[in-house]
Amino acid sequence: MARVDVIRVKGGARLAGDVTVDGAKNSALKLMAVTLLAEGRSVVENVPRITDIAIMGEVLRRLGCQVELAGGIATIDVPAVPGAEADYDLVRRLRASICVLGPLLARRGDVRVALPGGDMIGSRGLDMHFSGLARMGAEISGEHGFVIASAPGGLRGAKIWLDFPSVGATENLLMAAVLARGGTEIDNAAREPEIVDICEMLNAMGARISGAGTSTLQIEGVHALSPVRHTTIGDRIVGGTWAFGAAMTRGDVTVHGVRPEFLDIALDKLVSAGAVVDPGENSFRVRMADRPTAVDVVTLPFPGFATDLLPMALGLGAVSQGSSLITENIFDGRFMFVNEMVRLGADIRTDGHHAVVRGRERLSGAPVRATDIRAGAGLVIAGLCAEGMTEVGEVHHIDRGYPDFVADLAKLGVDVERAQVAEPRYGF
Ligand code: EPU
Repeated sequence: MARVDVIRVKGGARLAGDVTVDGAKNSALKLMAVTLLAEGRSVVENVPRITDIAIMGEVLRRLGCQVELAGGIATIDVPAVPGAEADYDLVRRLRASICVLGPLLARRGDVRVALPGGDMIGSRGLDMHFSGLARMGAEISGEHGFVIASAPGGLRGAKIWLDFPSVGATENLLMAAVLARGGTEIDNAAREPEIVDICEMLNAMGARISGAGTSTLQIEGVHALSPVRHTTIGDRIVGGTWAFGAAMTRGDVTVHGVRPEFLDIALDKLVSAGAVVDPGENSFRVRMADRPTAVDVVTLPFPGFATDLLPMALGLGAVSQGSSLITENIFDGRFMFVNEMVRLGADIRTDGHHAVVRGRERLSGAPVRATDIRAGAGLVIAGLCAEGMTEVGEVHHIDRGYPDFVADLAKLGVDVERAQVAEPRYGF
């Protein structure tokens, strides 16, 4: 019988103490792809120790790079001509592999990347990646589950308007534009801190990007880039998870390693719910004395409330005094895990992209299943507010985004264990 990992937490916990957050997954993955743009050895520091980073390392190895991942540092040696293909077996495990499309097209002029398909938070289109690259002169087609792109005459700068400030499309287009001939302007660009991080690394390599952190990015193409050493920004979503955990458990947590301004709206919601938040320079403290008061939350691209904290917002609503209206605007399937939270006794009703959450004093521990990274973390945190034990299954999802989650929970005072259980098999 196969064995799978579960996380068990005892409810009634109060998170208290200090926790340090690693570099942002969604920055580091792309910074690793950025290294493809320059021949030679680049080093990315403060890389989180999670499965997704290991998979990205493998993607780069198959493209001919030498990759060493140790002690939170990725050392990547990029050949003069990197390979051209990212296969399905890696892309299906890491959607973010699609971010090699832009840099490989810029460096080689041709690339084949497997299409990632949908996932548990929604359908997740890539049309803006493709139409933006096409405007820069790429020819793009699909065949046998691959996207095949080429730019025989090289990429040329273009004016690109995004229908929506997509994080992934902005990144792919940026990485293509830095080596294109002439100037590119990306309008309605994503403004996430991770985009700013990528722009800073690219500029340190010799790229000419201005407007990072605004909706208009101007890129003046250059002939070649040089390798560089860069430190990844802290993970605002992991930091935000601890912030919500502190508020939900009436705890007192100081989060180190992430700038509080990356979480302005999320922390402000916690203040409205009754928490005291003390921001530091690269840290913040969240304290909550009483039961939280219900707050409404609407997810939006940065600087709006992050969709990746939606499961935590639902958890907060589930234990708050009063009712919360939670609106999801980014992913069509983000509420798919709600039934797992209902198994913990949460009173949540969804209708399209809205959820109404009626708060309860206590939830009730139960076996539940993680369906994606953030849902998994959200269920564990909700389990802290439940009577009895909560066992969260399919924790490989959590491993994709939260380094040392169990050790951090234990350090913050939670009675928690990771265990292997036999996975029952049914059939004939
Ligand atoms: N979209 C399109 N067409 C496109 C691109 C996007 O329709 O060409 C749609 C998507 O289907 C989605 C929405 O636009 O509904 C937003 O997608 P976006 O491109 O902004 O997201 P992403 O780049 O696929 C990144 C993070 C996600 C995070 C979102 C939003 C990485 C690896 N992933 O995804 O992180 O939720 O931005 O902030 O950077 C996670 O870490 O758990 C995670 C899901």
